[in-house]
Amino acid sequence: MRAVDIIIKKRDKQELSAQEIEWFIQEFTRGGIPDYQAAAWAMAVLLNGMTEEETTALTLAMARSGEMLDLSSVVPIAVDKHSTGGVGDKTTLVVAPLVAACGLPVGKMSGRGLGFSGGTLDKLESIRGFRADLSTEQFLGQLARVGVVVCGQTADLAPADGKLYALRDVTGTVQSIPLIASSIMSKKIAAGAQAIVLDVKVGFGAFMKTLSEAQQLARLMVEIARKTERKAVAYLSDMNQPLGRTVGNALELREAIDTLQNRGPRDFETHCLEIASRMLVIAEQSPSMEAARVTVERALRNGDAWQKFLAWIEAQGGDLSMVLDAQKLPIGSLQMEIVAPVSGYIQQIHAEKVGLAAVMLGAGRAKKGDPIDYGVGIEVYHKVGQIVQRDEPLFMVYANREEHLRQVQAMLLEAVVIKENPVEPLPHFYGVIE
Ligand code: URA
Repeated sequence: MRAVDIIIKKRDKQELSAQEIEWFIQEFTRGGIPDYQAAAWAMAVLLNGMTEEETTALTLAMARSGEMLDLSSVVPIAVDKHSTGGVGDKTTLVVAPLVAACGLPVGKMSGRGLGFSGGTLDKLESIRGFRADLSTEQFLGQLARVGVVVCGQTADLAPADGKLYALRDVTGTVQSIPLIASSIMSKKIAAGAQAIVLDVKVGFGAFMKTLSEAQQLARLMVEIARKTERKAVAYLSDMNQPLGRTVGNALELREAIDTLQNRGPRDFETHCLEIASRMLVIAEQSPSMEAARVTVERALRNGDAWQKFLAWIEAQGGDLSMVLDAQKLPIGSLQMEIVAPVSGYIQQIHAEKVGLAAVMLGAGRAKKGDPIDYGVGIEVYHKVGQIVQRDEPLFMVYANREEHLRQVQAMLLEAVVIKENPVEPLPHFYGVIE
C-alpha cells in the first residue's frame, strides 16, 4: 500500500477499507508516513467525512497503536466518564470518588487544560505533592487498593492519537466529527473502558457550538462503542455559561470539595449526581436511574464520597492538610469585584469569554507546556435568567498581577449581556443518547 493512494481515495470521497486505515495508522505511528502526508489525509477526512465503519476502524487502529489496558482483574466492570471539555467543568473531581464510594471502582486517565477549557489534572495539581504521572502498575495497584485513581495518560496509550492530535492542532483539522470521535474513543478503549458515560458539551464554551453538531458527535461515539462491544451513553449538556460557580484550578477544587461536603452549587451538584447515577446504571451496579440516584445521594450526604476523596488524594501524594483546610490552597493575592453596569435580567454569561479571561489571568495555557498559576481564576455569582441590580457584584476575580485586573474586567463585562426583558434559565441537559 502507498500513503498517497489512501490520501487520493479520501480526497475523491471514496470509502477507505479497514485494512487501509489500519495500515495507514500503523505506518504513521512507526514513522513510516511523514507528517505532511498524514496532515493531507486529515484534511481530506475533515472535508469529505468518514462513514461509521471507517470511523470505527480508525478508532480501533489508534487504540491498538500502543498498550491496551485490561482492568478485568481489578474491577468488576471498567467504567469511565469523559467530558468533551468546557469552562468550570470539575465533574470528575466529585464523580470519581462518589461512584467509588458506591462500591464501583473508578480508574480514569484525564487530561490537562488547553485553550479556554480546563483540565482535571491541573485542578488536582493545585494540591501540593499530588502526582498525576503514574505507571501502569501504580494505576492498577491504586485502583485495587483505594478504588479510585485519576492520572495522566501514559505515552504508550493510543500513541497514534497523540501524534495525530498534535498534527491536527496545527493544521486546522481538529474540527472534524469523525476525527474527534475516534480520538476520544480510541483513548477510552485503550484505557480498558467497558462502559462509558460521555458528557458532550454544547454551546459557546464547548468544542461543539450547535446542538446538531453535538448530537452527531454523541451518536457517533455511542455507535462506535456499540460496534466495539462497549457500552456508552452520551449526555448533551449545556456549556453556554460556566458550570458551577468557579473557573480556575484551585477555585474549582474548592468548589468540588464544597460539593463533596454538601455545600456545592445546585447546578453542579445536579450534574454530578446525574453522571454518577448513570455510571452505576451503565455498569449494571444499579437496576434503574431512580435506584442509582438513591445510592449516590446517600454516598454524598453521609460523607462516604468525601472520605473516598481524601483516601484518593492521599494515595497520590497530595498534601491532605490543603484539602482539609481549603484556606491553604493557592489563591490569587489580588481580588477585584466586577459589578453589573445596569439592572436587568442576565441573558448571557459567555462561557468561552469567561474561560479566556481565566487563561489570561494564568489559569490555563495558550500552548502545550505553558506553566499554570493555580490560585487565579474567577468566581461567577449568577446564572442566565437571574435578575441583577446595577452595581450588584457579578464576578470576583482572583489575580496575581495588577495589570491583569483591568484587562479581565473588560473581558468579563463583554461576556455578560443584561437586558430588561426576562429570559428563561438555560437547561442543564439537552438530551441523552443511549
Ligand atoms: N478531545 C480529544 O481527545 N480529541 C479530539 O480530537 C478533540 C477533543
